[in-house]
Amino acid sequence: MFSPLPATAQLPDSPKELYAATCAKCHADDGTGRLPTPTVKNLPRDFTNCALATAEPDADWELVTARGGPVAGLSSEMPAFGDAFSAEQISGLVRYARGFCKEPGWPLGNLNLPRALFTEKAYPENEFLIIPVVSHTAGEPASLRFRAVYERRLGRRAHAEIGLPIASTSQTGSRSTGVGDVAVAVKYVLHTNNVSRILTAGTEVVFPTGSESRGLGSGTTVFEPYLAAAALVGEAIVQSQFKMEFPAREPWADREVLYNIYVGHSLSPAPSTWTLALELNGVEKQLALTPQFRKPLTRTGALAIGAGVRVPIVNRSSQSTQVAGYLLWEYLDPVRSRP
Ligand code: HEC
Repeated sequence: MFSPLPATAQLPDSPKELYAATCAKCHADDGTGRLPTPTVKNLPRDFTNCALATAEPDADWELVTARGGPVAGLSSEMPAFGDAFSAEQISGLVRYARGFCKEPGWPLGNLNLPRALFTEKAYPENEFLIIPVVSHTAGEPASLRFRAVYERRLGRRAHAEIGLPIASTSQTGSRSTGVGDVAVAVKYVLHTNNVSRILTAGTEVVFPTGSESRGLGSGTTVFEPYLAAAALVGEAIVQSQFKMEFPAREPWADREVLYNIYVGHSLSPAPSTWTLALELNGVEKQLALTPQFRKPLTRTGALAIGAGVRVPIVNRSSQSTQVAGYLLWEYLDPVRSRP
């Protein structure tokens, strides 16, 4: 049987030599995975391709190196090295493998954190989302909104998205259902230390495609610039967003200030783990709390759901309680586990 370990019991010290002795026979010396005679059927991803190689957290790669491909839905052809190597050796190997991406400026996936229900994600994404929200205000019938959002990374640091909503609301007894206000957004990573902090600026423009008279849209274009920041603080995931909304039609006084703060915790480093979190959502003087969870549906983490309840904590009678969720699909990642 093919043994992933070198014949000698004496392992080299430096990550470079360790890589050459143990990883290169499948991943190639240059990290591309391209070998004159491939040793595996499932070709490993090209570590020199920055777009592919930077988007995942170091922890994912360390987990795969220690416990083998299947722990992250990857092929069992990727062996487990956790018994042979120390944690330091494994993190050294992952750092070395990261180094195959030679282009500067790619934000590392360490800050690619679980999506919050309301706080904008600072990290750029390739995702498709379905976002249902049911809102209920005391004494009124519930309103329902579904949004389909397509997100796409552009180059190293930018991201663009388009959101198409279907809304169903009830005004004076009759229910209307139809297209809501279409939103287009762009964002750009301003700064990241690639380990624990990221800062992104973005702006969303919401167009009045939904009928205002039927309660499906706001009736005016709204410009929504924002800053989103995220940090890893010990075991806690902290995400935050500060946003202003400027309606094009209304007087200046109708602008709004929104802020969201999310604190969460993932129960294990596996991509398929649960994340539990609490969000504080502010709109001007209105405040709400949103306890929520996120759970990937596949081992690869390429499909995931999140859900929570937004409960007003001040002015409770005038604010709505919302049940919100999302189904997300990272469309560049394999959904099914590989053999
Ligand atoms: C026997 C062949 C083999 C050896 C030896 C091997 N790998 Fe792999 N590795 C693979 C294959 C195959 C995949 C791709 C699995 C997939 O995509 O389903 C992979 C995937 C990976 C990934 C996941 C990357 C991603 O796509 O998310 C990492 C990280 C990794 N290997 C690191 C290492 C390190 C570090 C070593 C050396 C200690 C090593 N591998 C040794 C075959 C191997």
